[in-house]
Amino acid sequence: MSALLFHHPQDVALATALAMQGGMEKGDLALRAFPDGETYLRFLPPVAGRTVYFLCSLNDPNAKINLLLFFAKTARALGATSVTLIAPYLGYMRQDKAFHEGEAVTADIHAAFLSSCFDRIITIDPHLHRHARMEEIFSIPSCVVHAAPLLAQWVKTNVASPLLIGPDAESEQWVRALAEACAAPYHCLQKNRLGDRTVILSALPPAILVGRTPVLVDDMISTAGTMVEVVKQLKKLGVAAPVCVAIHPLFAGDAYARLKEAGAGPIVSCNTVPHASNAMDVAPLLVAVLENSDVIKT
Ligand code: R5P
Repeated sequence: MSALLFHHPQDVALATALAMQGGMEKGDLALRAFPDGETYLRFLPPVAGRTVYFLCSLNDPNAKINLLLFFAKTARALGATSVTLIAPYLGYMRQDKAFHEGEAVTADIHAAFLSSCFDRIITIDPHLHRHARMEEIFSIPSCVVHAAPLLAQWVKTNVASPLLIGPDAESEQWVRALAEACAAPYHCLQKNRLGDRTVILSALPPAILVGRTPVLVDDMISTAGTMVEVVKQLKKLGVAAPVCVAIHPLFAGDAYARLKEAGAGPIVSCNTVPHASNAMDVAPLLVAVLENSDVIKT
């Protein structure tokens, strides 16, 4: 029997593509809020004896925590063989240490919570910084999908003479690999974060921009504070409006409008989170993993 794929309402487009391309049956959830705001959840198709997936991208994670818990516990109670979370964007990965005394290390706590709910997790380019591997904080098997081939393909197809620009030292490893795949030069800045929305970046050496189209690449855009700073620098240098490329388009509040207003050129992202900037489809990457990964088959 084929696997059953359920999804958060926000992720309907990606779920439809995944079910179609991956030969999975799409499962219906009756989901609504009671008048007092509590969640009502009912699985419509029987899940007993079935392999169950839940596609739920974890942008805006606080709004989804209860649903994750209710989904996983109910699927198990109803006899699902296994319950796997597919979180194209995995939230709560950035507070991975206590920077000040008394702070919650929410990356560890959230990973422990998800590990207690699900049998396995599949995600795309999680923000692994001080933790090098998912296994350091997740106690369930995990599978990490990389979007780099999509980014490389998009840049190669759409940008003439690109110069790839990474926003910080952490990005160097993957920006370098992306630059190699695009046969293009790259430069990574140094970033000092002063607050949630404020960063200070090192200066771009003007010489590297000559004859090049600047392409800013980041794993995610949240407040867009980082990209706005690079765009401002480029504007001062009088070069062409940069292309902005991100894997995860979180765009908190008016971030997208602010990035546009700052002078960004095309802004493109993967559809890990539904957004107007989506230009790269992760469905084939996820299908390949679902069909081939040992982690998923076990
Ligand atoms: C940080 O380490 C990440 O790689 C991104 O650079 C950062 O999260 C972007 O955030 P924002 O858009 O708020 O500057």
